[in-house]
Amino acid sequence: MDRPGQTARLLILIGAGLLVGAATARPPLKAARWLSADADLRADLGFAPSECLAKVKDAKTRYQIEVGRAAFRSSLLFGGQAGHAGLSCEACHKNGRTNPDFQFPGLSGAPGTADVTSFLMSPKRGKHGAVPKPIPNLSGPKSALRISQDPNRPELRAFIHGIVTEEFDGPEPPSGVMDGLVAYVRQLGPDHCPKPATVRLTAESRLEDARRAVRAADQAVVRKDLKTADTLVEAARDSLGVINERYAGEDLKPERAALKASAIELAALRQAIVAGDADSARRRAAEWIAGSAGLERTLKAAEARSLYNPDKLRP
Ligand code: HEC
Repeated sequence: MDRPGQTARLLILIGAGLLVGAATARPPLKAARWLSADADLRADLGFAPSECLAKVKDAKTRYQIEVGRAAFRSSLLFGGQAGHAGLSCEACHKNGRTNPDFQFPGLSGAPGTADVTSFLMSPKRGKHGAVPKPIPNLSGPKSALRISQDPNRPELRAFIHGIVTEEFDGPEPPSGVMDGLVAYVRQLGPDHCPKPATVRLTAESRLEDARRAVRAADQAVVRKDLKTADTLVEAARDSLGVINERYAGEDLKPERAALKASAIELAALRQAIVAGDADSARRRAAEWIAGSAGLERTLKAAEARSLYNPDKLRP
């Protein structure tokens, strides 16, 4: 294990990422730091490809997919510097696909590439610099992918586990979260792509991500998997943070205050989970979901003034 070396590499690349961000006067969004110099900020930060996720009937698989979907979008899954930088699976695999404009100094070569396996595949080679590979489209044909997604084989789980804990220094994820990530990735595919092919990123859609995470957390509580529930509430909180940075500026103070109040309620929900108080956790989850409708109205009313307005994303 080369944790110190790994951390040093991340520190360097994050420093470089900050410099690039400053030099080009980009919008103050973490996601702006990992886009190549010639990326179209309006297209990349304002929109995303639609999510190609299968609709599944089986209740247990559906639950696992929701767990994985939330974890996939949470930067709190990753440790220290990668987490601080706001990286998540979704940074590279946008809505479960690829990201042709992803470029993070020290981690990427050409736009659309990243090095996530050199350390895994060869700890020694990991010390000697990155070997960036094209970011694969996880929603493309399974036959085009390298790692077997056969439910009877262990490779997919091992690969994802390595990305979280080794490449990005995350703490050991609860096994329910690992089950979720594997289930989510398996259920992505070209036959499930909705129309239109591109969706606008909005505060409402990100808040809905948070709501889905809290609903899954409630299910995890019912299943007595409190560790997974905790990770999911953290994922919801991370979504509020992502929304918060889009509501930058003095005139959007009330919206940020509403987000903060909502995050504080999530913290209380988390406390109930950590304390093992299932009844209180379930009640708080239901209350938070009900209260999120008001938050949504508040955010929506000011959305045109926020960095969810694509026209405000150009430098
Ligand atoms: C920094 C960008 C980045 C992040 C973050 C990232 N990936 Fe990837 N991912 C890649 C790249 C690049 C590859 C190709 C690696 C290779 O082929 O050696 C890859 C490969 C994969 C594969 C294998 C695809 C195949 O060909 O079979 C899976 C599955 C995957 N990623 C899932 C995830 C999940 C789940 C997460 C979050 C835990 C994640 N990735 C986070 C860039 C990233």
